[in-house]
Order: sequence, then C-alpha cells, then structure tokens
Amino acid sequence: MSQLPAVRPTDLDPMEQAPLAELRALQTERMSWTLHHAYANVPHYQRAFDAAGVHPDDFKDLADLKRFPFTAKQDLRENYPFGMFAVPREQVARIHASSGTTGKATVVGYTKADLEHWAAVGARSLRAAGVRPGDRVHIAYGYGLFTGGLGVHYGAEALGCTVIPVSGGMTARQVQLIRDFEPEAICVTPSYLLAILDEMERQGVDPQGTSLRVAVLGAEPWTDAMRAEIEDRLAIHAVDIYGLSEVMGPGVGNEDVAEKDGTYLWEDHFYPEIVDPATGEVLPDGERGELVFTSLTKEAMPVIRYRTRDLTRLLPGLSRPMRRMERITGRSDDMMIVRGVNLFPSQIEEELLTVAGLAPHFVCVLTRPARLDELCVRVEARDSAVDRDAAAARLASGVKERFGVTITVDVLGPGTLERSQGKAQRILDMRAAP
Ligand code: DLL
Repeated sequence: MSQLPAVRPTDLDPMEQAPLAELRALQTERMSWTLHHAYANVPHYQRAFDAAGVHPDDFKDLADLKRFPFTAKQDLRENYPFGMFAVPREQVARIHASSGTTGKATVVGYTKADLEHWAAVGARSLRAAGVRPGDRVHIAYGYGLFTGGLGVHYGAEALGCTVIPVSGGMTARQVQLIRDFEPEAICVTPSYLLAILDEMERQGVDPQGTSLRVAVLGAEPWTDAMRAEIEDRLAIHAVDIYGLSEVMGPGVGNEDVAEKDGTYLWEDHFYPEIVDPATGEVLPDGERGELVFTSLTKEAMPVIRYRTRDLTRLLPGLSRPMRRMERITGRSDDMMIVRGVNLFPSQIEEELLTVAGLAPHFVCVLTRPARLDELCVRVEARDSAVDRDAAAARLASGVKERFGVTITVDVLGPGTLERSQGKAQRILDMRAAP
C-alpha cells in the first residue's frame, strides 16, 4: 500500500475549542429561542405542543427537552409544501426537497442567515476532513433539489477553496476533470467514488497517481472496510460527512481526518439525542438507538426532536467539546428481517470485503418464495479469474457465522451491476411482487 498523504494540523472554530459548559449554555439559550420561535410561528408545533401539554416557557434546561413532542417525516409531508416554515415565504432564500420516491417530497427552506450558518458548518466539516483554504474541491454530489451538491459547494467556498461544481454522472468526464484540474479533494458518495475508481482503471489512469489527497464521503451508509478499500486503492484519506435535508443538509457533522474515529456533530447548531426507536425513551450516551435532532439556529424551518431513523450511538468528544457519533449502521427503514434476524446492508458490506475475490458492488435481493423471507446477495467478482462458487460459499458461511443468518450469494462478472451516480440502492425488495 502506498503512503497516505500527510495531514496538516486542523485549525478550529472558537466553538470547537470552548469549554463544555460554554457549549451547554449556548445550546440552552438557543434551544429556548427555537422552541418559542417554532411555537409562535408554525401551527403544527403549536398544536403538537398544546396536545402534549407543554409550553416553550416550560423549558429551563436541556433535560426538559424530553417533555416536547417528536417530529416525524410524516409531519413534514402533511404540511407539504411550505406549512412547516416559520417565516413569511418571501424571507425564504432557498428551497431544497427530497426526491419523494416513497411519497410526497419533503420540502425544506432556508433564510439568508440559515444559508450562512450552513456554509459555516460546511466549511468546518471540510476543514475537519483535512481540506484547506486554496485547495481545489471537486464536487460530485448531485446539484439541484438534493442538498448534497449546493450544500458542500457553499461550505467549500466559505472555507476559501477553488470549487469545481461537477455534480453527479458522466463518469468518464469526472475522471478527465480530475486529471486536468488536479483537485486535492473530492466530495462524493462512497458508492459513486467506486464507480469513478473503476472508470480510472478502465481508462488506464493510475488511481494512486492522481492529485487527490482526501475524499469527503457521505449521503449513504458506509463501513470501515469500505474506507480501507478506498484509501488503499486511491492512496487518499477517506473521511465521513453526515447530514440530512430536514436538519440542514451535508455538514451536520464530520469526522476529523487525524482521528477517523467517529463523526463530530456540530452541536452548537444541532442538538442530538438518542432514543429507543420503539418507545421513544431517551437513552444515555453510549447506548445504541435512533438519532434525533433539534435545530438550534434555524429560522426558516426549525425542527423539534426530528426522528432521523438513523441508528447509532453518541460518544464523548476527543479534540472538541462536541460529541461524536459512531458510524451509522443503517436506517431503521433499511433493516432487513431475515428469518427473524435483523440485518443491515452495511453488515453485508463489511463481511463481503473480507472475501478476497469479491468487489464492493452488491445488492441485497429480498424475496418471499414460501412464507419466509429469503435474502440473496448479488455481488461482483473482482475479476474474471475469481472462483465464483468458492467466493459465494465463503460469503454465505461468513454471514452465517457472524450474524446467524442463512443467505444465498450470486457472484456475477465484473461490471454487471448497475453503478449508482449518487446514493446506492442496496436493497431490492421483491417480496410484494407476484
Ligand atoms: O444525504 C445530505 C448529505 C449530502 C450528507 C452529502 C452527506 C453528504 P438526505 O438526502 O436528506 O440528505 O438524506 C439523509 O442519508 O438520514 C442518512 O440515512 C443518510 N446519510 C447521510 N450521510 C450519511 C453518512 C443527505 N455519512 C440521510 N453515513 C440520512 C450514513 C448517511 N448515512
């Protein structure tokens, strides 16, 4: 393996160096403002707080937050398109929305001040990732209603980088632009970076010889096994960026490149809780559950105790007062239940990357031939010389041993599975099909 490039020391924002007590005091003050702002200006919150018998004045310190009701994606859908906005529409400077493939799109809005805060946490995220002012940043997250492209774009601009707004798709051109413009950093989903990497190899470009130093990867779950694969093949640092549209977009949190040990949540803007997904009970730091956020500075669309469905746990900060979260295992909606055992695509990813002949291109196909769910993992061989039957048997027995689930494995030829140009679709659910 070639050497990873050196990482220069990270400069921190004042809040990243503040004593914990100062952070908690700021959060308390901002939380009180947010609760009052939401209650006074969004009919949904007024109704929900009243129904729960709680008023913003009841909030005295952070422990009181648990008395306030949760907000779910469904609440945003029911108030489609602009019903969750807390400012007059003319003060909304930008709109983003989720694709809405599973229902009505979820619409989010930002005032000018919100956009400035987003750019600031975006810049902080990229700095934590090892990106520096003056670096060229190739952005291959999609531009448009998706928050990925424009979100990282303004963060990189605020940090003082030279931004290369490529967006997703046209993979051959992505490689050409990396060769010609010589970016130091690339922002992209991990699955699409793999597609770009394959394309480099197809074009005869040495992936280890590019100008890239760091990849800022997110928008979908990925594992440390995938980090090792990417760092090894490209000789760059691969760092996690986290975010979701309802809370802000990319830059709700980011890993520190020097630590690579959990994603710092920018708690001066987004207050995290972990709750039991079934009961909603708040769990102590260190316990696994569903991540919930309350925005602390958002004007256009404050969110109160928003249920992300992302499963993780909170860990204490190392170099900052902010807490870290462990790598997200998956979303509760992506959990497969195979013969009574809970399984996430990320666990399959981790296991398949231990099998030498298998490439990290895979999809989990769920069927229900009799009355029981069956899982078949379709995965590509790294090259045509791989003994596919042996590789399939190794993955099936690895999954059985580690997770106690019987699966079937179909090893396909290299390049057979469709490549994602954004978020990878890891589950193909054929159970409803006749
Ligand atoms: O994916 C925002 C984003 C763009 C984040 C670019 C990072 C980079 P949404 O489309 O609203 O927003 O999807 C949010 O994606 O709730 C997670 O389930 C998942 N997700 C985002 N980042 C990560 C990550 C953007 N680093 C949903 N690890 C979230 C695991 C992630 N899952």
